[in-house]
Amino acid sequence: MYTGTELGESESDRQVLVLVLKTLLCRLPLPLLALQLQVKVQFPGPVGQQRKQEKRRGNCVVRPDISLLRHFEKHMVVVLTAPTTISSEKNEIIEGCHVPVLLPNGDGWHASEVLSIKEVNGKSLFYIHYEDYNKRLDEWVPIERMDLSKLEQPKKDIKTPIKKEGGVGAPRISNGGTESRPSSPEREPIYENGTMQSLGLSNSGAMKVHTGCDGFGSRKRKLEEDTDSQDAPLAPRQTGSMVAHHDDIITRMKNVNLIEFGKWRIKPWYFSPYPQELTTLPILYICEYCLKYLKSAKCLERHLQYAQHLCLLAKLFLDHKTLYFDTDPFLFYCLCEQDAQGYHLVGFFSKEKESAEDFNVACILTMPPYQRMGYGKVLIEFSYELSKVECKTGSPEKPLSDLGLLSYRSYWSQTILEILLDLKPNESGERPCITINEISELTSIKKDDVISTLQHLNLINYYKGQYIITLSDEQIQTQERAMAKRPIRIDPKCLHWQPKDWSKRGKW
Ligand code: ACO
Repeated sequence: MYTGTELGESESDRQVLVLVLKTLLCRLPLPLLALQLQVKVQFPGPVGQQRKQEKRRGNCVVRPDISLLRHFEKHMVVVLTAPTTISSEKNEIIEGCHVPVLLPNGDGWHASEVLSIKEVNGKSLFYIHYEDYNKRLDEWVPIERMDLSKLEQPKKDIKTPIKKEGGVGAPRISNGGTESRPSSPEREPIYENGTMQSLGLSNSGAMKVHTGCDGFGSRKRKLEEDTDSQDAPLAPRQTGSMVAHHDDIITRMKNVNLIEFGKWRIKPWYFSPYPQELTTLPILYICEYCLKYLKSAKCLERHLQYAQHLCLLAKLFLDHKTLYFDTDPFLFYCLCEQDAQGYHLVGFFSKEKESAEDFNVACILTMPPYQRMGYGKVLIEFSYELSKVECKTGSPEKPLSDLGLLSYRSYWSQTILEILLDLKPNESGERPCITINEISELTSIKKDDVISTLQHLNLINYYKGQYIITLSDEQIQTQERAMAKRPIRIDPKCLHWQPKDWSKRGKW
């Protein structure tokens, strides 16, 4: 006889489920009614997503009510599945059973322990641990790989230990549900564009394990867990050691199927407490740069749009630039400060992969907290070092902002003066001689910018039919002081880079 009290969490849940069972079962052929059945009821829509699937078994003798069934068919999906406690002739397979399992390569049988049972497309799968082997070899196997003639029931007096340390109450596995796979600690989902939510860490720093929503066994587990956690007061973590104590069933089972990490797809070896909702995915996508985990390739793609986010951020401090969402034509060079916490973005510049106008910087920014500390000039200097390796002269994209012009003027002036002051008289003791073209080639500063800088510094004089550059003592001293204020310089010897010919690519 069916007992409604086993169902649902609330009284109304129970009533609905009982009705569904009755109306459903009345449609089955009579012989089936005698069977023990497991019934999975899914509520569609948002409500359904919140409510977890309820799974129960029961025998019913009911009268047909077709109109009621139609009503529920509109709102629910009812799935009949075979019970997951698999009966063999003598015994049934439950968690804790010991049974020989055919090794993956078909290379003989090996004693194994059944840790969990689940159903996939109506077929039972068993999570087994090959005894005396490292648990990274544990796997889900079908019943066909088991030698049921040698099945041994778990010893009654041995219970799966419950981990109490640090407030973590590891649930016992119940064998009543259709899926007994342990879950990760329940935590807030990580949204594709969101920040990391609560990590479910208790005050003690221990991971909080919540398993109350994934089936029959889980409800029982939840109660046990609650009781356990009451019994065991939360103890602060006593040690920084990360050595695991493998005495709970949850951490004995791998929970993530496969990860995609950069160009690799990797099968995890062990349990890791990723959010529960992500452990049911066929693949977990992990950003190889910041290690954020995402639920789909699409989310990862969006996440990797770092350059777009950088442009959006830069636009907050740039008035006269247009924001292009297509960042593919550009390369981005980021400057960071490093400390114990990691890398902190200080500034960046973008550069067109191919520039018809010989621009070597499209957009440059120093984040306001780091401005006027010389970082702008470091970025500018770096952009010219790249141009030197490319054997090109370059110029920033126009128009320049007011601060852009100030920074470039300052950089051009100091760089050109540095060249001029380095010039030595020739062997006959005559004053040194240099052309605008030579300055441009040595510095990779475009000829127009060299001329405008020399004019701005008012260095060019026409004397006895030729142009000469005259530097006053004051100008020399100002230059020396300015150079002393530039502690961070780019050392071209440290630049290991080969320019890429982007024109050879069909398209970006
Ligand atoms: N007032 C006066 N002079 C300034 C100022 C300011 N607010 N900011 C910079 N300067 C001068 C400095 O005097 C310095 O010259 P000096 O060494 O001769 O004194 C020079 O500019 C460079 O200073 P840095 O500290 O190296 O440069 P900073 O890190 O401040 O970055 C930058 C300069 C990138 C222009 C920064 O001001 C910025 O991000 N501004 C907002 C975005 C912007 O306008 N970008 C340039 C657009 S043009 C383009 O993208 C091609």
